[in-house]
Amino acid sequence: MAAAHILGIETSCDETAAAVLGEDGEIRSNVVASQAELHARYGGVVPEVASRRHLELVSPVVREALDRAGSTLDDVGRVAVTQGPGLVGALLVGISAAKAIAWARRLPLVPVDHLQGHVASLYLGPDPVEPPFLCLLASGGHTLLLDVRVRGASELLGTTLDDAAGEAFDKGARLLGLGYPGGAAIDRLAREGDASAYDFPVARVPGLDFSFSGLKTALLYAVRELAADELERRRADLAASYQRAIVRALVERARAAAAERGLQRIAVVGGVAANSELRGALAEAAFAPLELCTDNAAMIASAARYGRSLEYPRYLALDAYASLS
Ligand SMILES: Nc1ncnc2c1ncn2[C@@H]1O[C@H](COP(=O)(O)OP(=O)(O)OP(=O)(O)O)[C@@H](O)[C@H]1O
Ligand SMILES: [Mg+2]
Repeated sequence: MAAAHILGIETSCDETAAAVLGEDGEIRSNVVASQAELHARYGGVVPEVASRRHLELVSPVVREALDRAGSTLDDVGRVAVTQGPGLVGALLVGISAAKAIAWARRLPLVPVDHLQGHVASLYLGPDPVEPPFLCLLASGGHTLLLDVRVRGASELLGTTLDDAAGEAFDKGARLLGLGYPGGAAIDRLAREGDASAYDFPVARVPGLDFSFSGLKTALLYAVRELAADELERRRADLAASYQRAIVRALVERARAAAAERGLQRIAVVGGVAANSELRGALAEAAFAPLELCTDNAAMIASAARYGRSLEYPRYLALDAYASLS
């Protein structure tokens, strides 16, 4: 049988991840080694520390992905890797590993845009979502509205003018003393709080863009007004009200964009798609499977099915890119 599996590698931020997709695009393995604990004490990802850790982890994680898939490199027909956006030093570790594997086996390599990877998480799992749809991509570094008509392509409709939605969650969590990364912690605490306790503003910028920096400042002022014991008592209310404001902004704009584009379906991807209030508030939308919302390599391998393959050895000079061009 021809080697038809895709080996995906993802190292754009603080997850070292590798996955194997079978020939019909089914997930055979999906290994994610999170470095979150390593960075927690700094309150965020330290790029140099992340690169060094990726270097240590990338080979064992790839090996583990092959083992769990019950495959060897003989089964792999293509290697997919995140090219950007992300931390350049971190990306280069994954790209170098992917080049080395592909080169040694004379395989083609598929450079993947990390954000197209998040979108392609929708094509995996038991209930793949078929275009056309309006995609809300809400992650740690991005908040995008995309018009998706076919697999592998999209048109950008709106983005954040300042912080990303996940970044707003993380900064809010920090102000509330919940540690890093904070999205999931706010999500949990908010369940015990009253979301109408505080009236945090939802910025209404023109068009289909977002802005979250004013909201973060509003939380900062609310926290500053409270003595330590009061903050302790109001923490859940603050978390719930803050989360409500972020979710409202996301829901409003996603629905407006879908209506403007005549798109019947909304799909949500990225780490913030794991948020339980957002999943409830956009009940009509399709969400990426929970385990595929935050960074993983299965979504990178998925995107590679619709991406441009570089034949051996044309990819040896391939470089990383840090941000959306
Ligand atoms: N349940 C949740 N509720 C809200 N936010 C969440 C939840 N779970 C994770 N997040 C947020 O998701 C983000 C991480 O998502 P993801 O891994 O997709 O982002 P990233 O890869 O860091 O950024 P990008 O994809 O833009 O490069 C973090 O900001 C985290 O706080
Ligand atoms: Mg991501």
